[in-house]
Amino acid sequence: MSGAPVVQSVGVYQQGDSYVNIRVSRGLGVACVAAAVAGVAWMTTDVLAQANPVYQERIQTMRTMGGSFRPIVGIVQGQSTDLDAAATSARALADAAKRIVAQYPAGTGRDANPETRARPEIWSNRAAFEAAANLLAAEAEKMAVAAATKNADAIRAQMGPLGQACGGCHGGPAASGGTFRFERPS
Ligand code: HEC
Repeated sequence: MSGAPVVQSVGVYQQGDSYVNIRVSRGLGVACVAAAVAGVAWMTTDVLAQANPVYQERIQTMRTMGGSFRPIVGIVQGQSTDLDAAATSARALADAAKRIVAQYPAGTGRDANPETRARPEIWSNRAAFEAAANLLAAEAEKMAVAAATKNADAIRAQMGPLGQACGGCHGGPAASGGTFRFERPS
């Protein structure tokens, strides 16, 4: 076991007008949400919404998951004592994770819509994509169960595995979108 925690960026996510950087410290099993940068205009999702509802639905799924992190991370970092909010968020995150596979049907990549950040590997390497989605669904369900007990230590213990499951698709160098996602449009 190495002493120093390994900090891995799970990804930079847009929430409303802000970007949130979620990092997971594997050594400690603790995740932290770094400063959100407000005021960044990014029109991509509006274009997607007009083009095809499935794009909007899957982005909404991801945003639900990103937003659900906050109350959970608040408990993990000791900044919040709102265990009810953490439980509600963890349940929302777990339910959203179960929707991922069905929201990436064939024919919804960049050929159909140049704005999507979904990489072609989602379809060309489907087994790996579904494995990443299924792992997330399993880890998110464990978090929902842990959070339902309203026990902060149980939530803390499941934070690392959950964050790393996001990294199955979003992990990699900060500038990359991740294994299954294109980088953010500039
Ligand atoms: C199975 C692969 C996969 C996993 C696991 C995954 N994501 Fe995603 N995520 C994607 C893909 C692909 C996109 C790009 C979607 C698109 O443009 O259609 C995305 C986009 C996003 C976005 C950007 C949405 C927007 O506003 O455009 C957020 C936020 C996000 N993911 C959060 C998360 C969080 C939090 C987790 C873990 C709880 C997670 N994701 C796990 C594949 C995944």
